[in-house]
Amino acid sequence: MSDPAVDVVEFLLTAHTYTEAEDLDEGDLPPRYRQVFWSDGSIERPLAVTQDRARTATGVDHPWDAVSDLLFTQRTEFSGEISLTQPDMALEWYLDRVEDERIAANPTLAHAARNEDSVSVTREGAREDNQPIQADRVWIDSLLDEYFDEEEDAEMLDLVHILAPEEIETTLDDLVLTNDQNDEVDKIVTAIENRDYLASIGLSEIGKILFVGPPGTGKTTISRGLAHELGLPFVEVKLSMVTSQYLGETAKNVEKTFEVAKRLSPCILFIDEFDSVAKTRKSDEHAALKRAVNTLLKSIDDISLVRDEVLTVAATNHPDQLDAAAWRRFDEVVNFPKPDRQMREDILRIITRDMQMAAFDPDEVAEATEGLTGSDLRMVLREAVLQALTEGRRELTQDDVMSAVQGFEERDNLKNMDDFDNWTGSPGSGNKSDNEGHDHSHDGSHEHEVETEASDD
Ligand SMILES: Nc1ncnc2c1ncn2[C@@H]1O[C@H](COP(=O)(O)OP(=O)(O)OP(=O)(O)O)[C@@H](O)[C@H]1O
Ligand SMILES: [Mg+2]
Repeated sequence: MSDPAVDVVEFLLTAHTYTEAEDLDEGDLPPRYRQVFWSDGSIERPLAVTQDRARTATGVDHPWDAVSDLLFTQRTEFSGEISLTQPDMALEWYLDRVEDERIAANPTLAHAARNEDSVSVTREGAREDNQPIQADRVWIDSLLDEYFDEEEDAEMLDLVHILAPEEIETTLDDLVLTNDQNDEVDKIVTAIENRDYLASIGLSEIGKILFVGPPGTGKTTISRGLAHELGLPFVEVKLSMVTSQYLGETAKNVEKTFEVAKRLSPCILFIDEFDSVAKTRKSDEHAALKRAVNTLLKSIDDISLVRDEVLTVAATNHPDQLDAAAWRRFDEVVNFPKPDRQMREDILRIITRDMQMAAFDPDEVAEATEGLTGSDLRMVLREAVLQALTEGRRELTQDDVMSAVQGFEERDNLKNMDDFDNWTGSPGSGNKSDNEGHDHSHDGSHEHEVETEASDD
């Protein structure tokens, strides 16, 4: 890390400048600073720097000790607040020690240094790069408080889950994507960057995407990775929860979820298990559920990337169960096939990146793992690591990995004996599912198609 004194002075200068300059707002404070000043849904002036706040914002354990030697700092005995006695001197001192790059990450300081010839960063430039407050955890929490009272909380937490971008650990670099998927990511990023242009030419019907593919092929991960990459909050709705009987005011909650997404915008709204809608529409469900589902479809119609800055992504394992009304909602459909041999090899390299490997041959493993998804491969490697650990080893051999593959396949066989998607012909299997046999064969043939497309044989 950098010099603790510089870190604490930066924080003091920021608090001072923000307090003085009334035209600055939350968007001028770096996220790690505004979280400590956030209270009851806003940031109130003056910004008082207590030891605790300084510690949390800067990561310096003893903030006062770090700056007590400097001529322009003081601490109030009673409150323990730290402040600047001579802000101009503090600014000179600070600017002598940092590069423009650092100021570019703090719009308030860029504003403070606006008359300095040596500094070329502008407040506007820094603001554009600064994460919007809507992406901060504190802001998300206060928004949720506003929308959902405590009674509804438990229910809502099952239904919708919101992640701030900094809470998302997966990045797109951790994923192996098909060319189609890469193109789609590029398209999304470009569309978001050119929102204003798209609006000006009347193209508002974009930004609703359906991800289709078997479990464990990266649909959730790529969506989260996008949120991380773009610095956007990630609003995840589990649709099976919407259609669960135990939810009371479901339609209302669906509406609220979309309202929350709009308030959080720009953000990504991820609707998982989208097929559960179709099922509900087909079967003879409760009127309340029908209403909820219709509300959902209508809400999807009403939300727009261009107008509301919400990118809507839905995911399904069962595309054959979606009816025309559901398909029609999406302007792009992206296929998530099971990975082909080359992709499996690349995925294996990524998974083992930080592991100690001896004579590891990902090519051979890829050859032996036809039909496995990225998620399966992760599970295989986890088994191999655990097995080696129980034998007192951290370094993995090719044998470890190959026998984990073997183990996985045995397990998979057991699982399939109870899996109606892959099991036909045996009496009693019909009891396992609440669908008709007709649907199963559809499902099976779809999975087959996907595999051929991924050029495995
Ligand atoms: N193409 C891939 N490259 C790298 N890792 C992958 C890939 N596909 C899946 N994985 C890994 O598998 C795990 C599960 O993926 P994820 O949850 O995104 O699958 P999913 O398609 O959303 O599945 P489901 O349909 O069951 O929700 C993640 O840890 C992810 O890193
Ligand atoms: Mg998923």
